[in-house]
Amino acid sequence: MEIMPFPSVTHTDVPVLETDADAIVLVVPKSDGAAVDPQGWDGLGASLTAVGFTGAAGSFQRIHVPGVALPVAVAGAGAGRRRVRPLAEGTALGGYRFAGYKKEAPKARASRVSVHTAAAPSEADRTAVAAIAGAVALVKDLVTTPAEWLGPAEFAETAVEAVAGLPVEVEVLDESALQDGGYGGILGVGQGSDRPPRLVRLTYSPADAERHVALVGKGITFDTGGLSLKPAASMVGMKYDMCGAATVLAVLRAAAEMALPVAVSAWLCIADNMPSGRATRPGDVLRMLDGTTVEVLNTDAEGRLVLADGLVAASRTNPDLLIDVATLTGAITVALGNRHAGVMGDEDAVAEYLAAAERVAELAWPLPLPAHMVDELDSPIADLQNAKIGDPAGGSLFAGLFLRHFVGRVSDAADAPRIPWVHLDIAGVGMNKGAPYGFTDKGVTAATVRGGYAAALRLAELGKDVVLVEKDKLGGTCLHRGCIPTKALLHAAEVADATRGAAGIGVQASFDGIDAARVRAYREAIVAKKFTGLEGLIATRGIRVVRGEGSLEAGPAVRVGDDLYRGTDVILATGSFSRTLPGLEIGGRILASEQALELDVVPERVVVLGGGVIGVEFASVWRSFGVEVTIVEALAHLLPAEDVSSSKALERAFRKRGIAFQLGRRFSSITSREDGVTVSLDDGSQLEADYVLVAVGRGPATAGMGFEEAGVVIERGFVRTDERLRTDAAHVWAVGDIVAGLQLAHRGFQQGIFVAEEIAGLSPVLVSDVDVPRVAYSHPEVASVGLTEAQAQERYGSDAVRAYEYNLAGNGRSEIIGTAGIVKIVRKVDGPVVGAHLVGDRVGELITEAQLAVGWEAHPEDIAPFVHAHPTQSEALGEAFLALAGKPLHAL
Ligand code: BES
Ligand code: MN
Ligand code: ZN
Repeated sequence: MEIMPFPSVTHTDVPVLETDADAIVLVVPKSDGAAVDPQGWDGLGASLTAVGFTGAAGSFQRIHVPGVALPVAVAGAGAGRRRVRPLAEGTALGGYRFAGYKKEAPKARASRVSVHTAAAPSEADRTAVAAIAGAVALVKDLVTTPAEWLGPAEFAETAVEAVAGLPVEVEVLDESALQDGGYGGILGVGQGSDRPPRLVRLTYSPADAERHVALVGKGITFDTGGLSLKPAASMVGMKYDMCGAATVLAVLRAAAEMALPVAVSAWLCIADNMPSGRATRPGDVLRMLDGTTVEVLNTDAEGRLVLADGLVAASRTNPDLLIDVATLTGAITVALGNRHAGVMGDEDAVAEYLAAAERVAELAWPLPLPAHMVDELDSPIADLQNAKIGDPAGGSLFAGLFLRHFVGRVSDAADAPRIPWVHLDIAGVGMNKGAPYGFTDKGVTAATVRGGYAAALRLAELGKDVVLVEKDKLGGTCLHRGCIPTKALLHAAEVADATRGAAGIGVQASFDGIDAARVRAYREAIVAKKFTGLEGLIATRGIRVVRGEGSLEAGPAVRVGDDLYRGTDVILATGSFSRTLPGLEIGGRILASEQALELDVVPERVVVLGGGVIGVEFASVWRSFGVEVTIVEALAHLLPAEDVSSSKALERAFRKRGIAFQLGRRFSSITSREDGVTVSLDDGSQLEADYVLVAVGRGPATAGMGFEEAGVVIERGFVRTDERLRTDAAHVWAVGDIVAGLQLAHRGFQQGIFVAEEIAGLSPVLVSDVDVPRVAYSHPEVASVGLTEAQAQERYGSDAVRAYEYNLAGNGRSEIIGTAGIVKIVRKVDGPVVGAHLVGDRVGELITEAQLAVGWEAHPEDIAPFVHAHPTQSEALGEAFLALAGKPLHAL
C-alpha cells in the first residue's frame, strides 16, 4: 500500500520575503491587521484594508501586496494568543493528499512548509506535529484504499508494517487462532467472506509507564450488512467501516513515536461483512469471548459483535482506561450530524475524554446510556440480542449499552466497578463530504485520532512520579520568609493605623503601642497553618519529599547524600537569597529582610537601603508601628520599575506619612556600634539609626549545586533558559527566581505549572513577564500589570499611545476608607489596553480586572459597557476605561 506523505514542516527565522518558497501564507491576528509588519512589507496594511480583511478566525483569502511577486494568502488567527503549534499542525494536516488512481495526477499540495516566526516551536511540538500528522495520514490512507485491496489479512499486514522499527509488540490472530481462542463475535461476522477475519493486538509498553490505556477499534473492511443486506445507496462508501481500527492503530503509533510515558495497547477487530452461503443468518446465535451468547437478529449490526470480543480481550489486561472507536450506527448521524463524535461510557471517563477533545479542538458530544433501555437487550433464546427489529429509537444508545455488557471490571469481585470506559461512535464524523473546516480536511477525517492521543497524553501526565528535594521547609521563601509573613506584618500595621484614626471617625479606641511578641505569634500562627496545609496537600498527591541538599548530575539526576534520583526530567526551582552590597555584611544591627522579620523589638529609627518592593513594604510597616524611617534609593524614584506616576503618588503618600526618603543617593559606608549604626551616603551626609535594613534585591540561588558541571549555563548568576524554560542541559528545566526576570512567587508558580505541562507534552502557553501582575503591599498599595506609559511609547511610538489617569479623590469608596491614589490605564490608540498602574489602599485586589484586560488585549470600548458595583474602588477602573473609550462619566 502506498503511504501518501504529509508535507515536512520546518521552522526558520529568516525574513519572510527572503523565502525560497513558491507561495506565502500570512497569519494575521484580529483587528490590528494593519499594524502587522512582517519585516518591512510596505503596503501590506493597505492591502488588508482594501480587501476588508479583519483577521477573524477561520477567514482566508488571496491578496495582492505591491512589490511582492509571490502569491500571498492571508489567514485570520482571530483574537487571543498566537501559537505556533496549531499553525504547524494545521499546515501538516492540510498538506495531505491521497494519490488516487486517476491517469492525471491530482492537483499538488505543498510538500514542504517553512514557518517563519521569531520564536521556534519546541522540539516536543515539532515531534508531536509530525507524529499527529503521520497518524492522520495513516488513517486516511487505510480508509481511502478500496476494500478490494485491503481485506482483513492485508489490513493486519499493514498494521504490522506501520509500527515497524518502533518499540511495539504485534500479535496477529488468524481465523484458526480466533477459533482456538473462542472469539465467536469476530468469527461470526467474518464467516460469510472469502477473506477470513483477523484480530491484531499491538502493545506499546515503555518502562516508565505508570498507566495503561487500551484501545479497541472496529475494523470492518467492507460492510455489506451481510444477509441483512444494505440497499444499494447505503452500501456505497462502506469501505470506511474500518475507521475505528485504523484510528486506534494510528493513535498507538503516535504514542510510540512520541515515546509517551504511558502504556498503550490496541485491539483491531477486523472482519469483512459479506453475505454468502456460509454467512451468519438472522436468528443465529454466536458465543462471544466471555461466553455471553448473542442472538444475531440483524447481521448489519455487526460492529458491536466484533467489538464485544475486543472489549473482553482488552479488559483482561486490566487497563486504567478503555476506549473503543467505531463507525457504529447511522443513528449517531441523525442525532449529532457529521461533525460531532458521539461519546458514551462512564461519567468520569467521558468527562476526561471530552476535555481532551476540547484541548485539540475536536468536536465531541456526550450521549446517555439509559438504565431503562437495558431490558431491550434481552433475547428470548440467548443472553442478548444484537438489535431491536423494527424499532430504531435510540439506536446509538442501544449499541452503547450492548458494548457496555462486555467491558470488564477492575477486579474479580462481583460488585467491583467497571474499568473506566469510553465509547466513541464516529459513524457521522468519520467522513467529511463537505468543505474543509478547522483541522478537518475533505474526505476521511481521522476523527478522534487527535482526541484519542490527547486522552492518552493526559493519562501519561497523571501517571508522573514526582520526587521533591528540599533542604529546608516546603513552601520556601514565599511561605516562611517572604510574601506570607510580611503580609501578616502589614496587616498588623494596617490595624495600628486604623486604631490611630478610629477616634476621628467616631469609634472610641486608643492606640497603646505594638506588642512585638504578639505580632510575632500572630505571624507565626498564620505561617504554621499554611505550612501544615501545604505538607498535607503534598502528601495526599503522593509526592515523595526527600529532605536534604540536592545537587544536579548528568542523566538528568539529583544526588542527595548517597542517594541518586534519576528522572526523565529535572526542574530546578532553588529560589533566591537576600543580596547585599560590598562592605555591608549582614549581622548585628545590619539586617536583611529575614532578620527584619524576626526582629523582636520595635526600633526607634531605621534606615532602609533600597526603595524597591521589599524596602517600601518594611518602611511602611515600621512607620505604622511608630518608627522614624528613612529610605535611601540610588535611582530617581521609589519603586523605580513602576510607572513614574505610581512612584510619584507613593512618594506623596509616604511624605504625608512622615516616611523620609533620599532619592538618587548611594550608601558609601556604615559603622556599626553596640547601640546603633551610622550610615554614610555618597553626598557626605550621615544618618543615625538603631538598625539598617539592606533591601537591595534578591540574588538567584544557583551556586554550589552542580548546575554548571551538569551542563546548565549560568549567566550573571541566573540560569540561562530558552523561552520555554529549558536550560542548556537536556531535560533540565528552571523556574522561579533563578530565571532572570520578575522575582515574584506567582510567576514562579505559573512557570512550574507550565513546565509540568510541557513535560507532559500538553504544549501550554507561558504568560510573559509583562502580563504578570505586580503588587507592593505598602500603605498605600501599588499594583500594576503590562507596560508603563514610557515603555508603551517606546514600543509603539508616542503618538500611538494614550494614557488616562483617574484620581481616587473622585471615588466614593476610597474617600470612605480614607485613601488617596490614582488609577492609570495605558492603551494603544484604537487598540487594546496595554498597561494598568494603580496606587491606593486595597488596589492590589483590583489588579485582577486590569490583568484580564491586558492579557485578553481588550479594547476600552469593549469593557466600557460593563458597569462596576457601586460603591467600590473598582469604579475607578471603570471610569478610566470609559474615559479612554471617549465617554467619561464623572471625570471633570
Ligand atoms: N457501519 C454501519 C453504520 C453506518 C450506517 C455508518 C450508515 C454510516 C452510515 C453499521 O455497521 C451499521 O450498519 N449499523 C446499523 C445498525 C442497525 C442495523 C441496528 C445502522 O446504524 O443502521
Ligand atoms: Mn453494519
Ligand atoms: Zn509568596
